[in-house]
Amino acid sequence: MSQDELKQAVAQAALDYILPHLEDDMIIGIGTGSTANFFIDALAKVKDRFEGTVASSEASVERLKSHGIPVYDLNSISELRFYIDGADESNDNLHLIKGGGAALTREKIVAAVAEEFICIADESKMVDVLGRFPLPVEVVPMARSYVARELVRLGGDPAYREGVVTDNGNVILDVWNMSITDPVAMETAINQITGVVTNGLFASRPANVLLLGTKDGVKTIK
Ligand code: 5RP
Repeated sequence: MSQDELKQAVAQAALDYILPHLEDDMIIGIGTGSTANFFIDALAKVKDRFEGTVASSEASVERLKSHGIPVYDLNSISELRFYIDGADESNDNLHLIKGGGAALTREKIVAAVAEEFICIADESKMVDVLGRFPLPVEVVPMARSYVARELVRLGGDPAYREGVVTDNGNVILDVWNMSITDPVAMETAINQITGVVTNGLFASRPANVLLLGTKDGVKTIK
């Protein structure tokens, strides 16, 4: 099975997971990236069985709307039963690294509101220790150099993601060469740096369920 086929399989598994719970007035949280895109395409088939969505990026808003799926402002929503999104890495505790698509801040906000965060990923994303994938950090532009120096003090090797501006008008530093053995502590430490909007560690609020696409089928990890 190709990586795209694995992503498609977990997207379908996520749809199967939420199907029995769909209600006419339900709003669903939607993530960003190629795996989330497969989920959006699968969700389109049942778009008459729920009210609409909130999305973690402008790219996902566009894709949802292209399917005729309503997208709401998160500020108008008080309850979100599910958030479905991909990841760049996951460990056994469902602590994640996200933000490869630069949407980490909005992803973290929607995940914070959701009752259940369903992560969908292919098996290449599973690691023992987070940090092989460079950790994205969203930074207010004028703080970029200062934040980079502070990230070096924390043991990382930050690189400016050239040419990328987030949906929030900020920039991304990708932090290489960190072996993140205490994801909650590292997430907190990086977020304490003035000028950091947020970082791509989802450890204080991990996923609740990981649907992992493997060559032997989709595994459900809780
Ligand atoms: C975007 C993300 C994505 O979830 C992450 O990059 C995984 O992407 P893909 O599903 O394309 O492998 O965090 O900011």
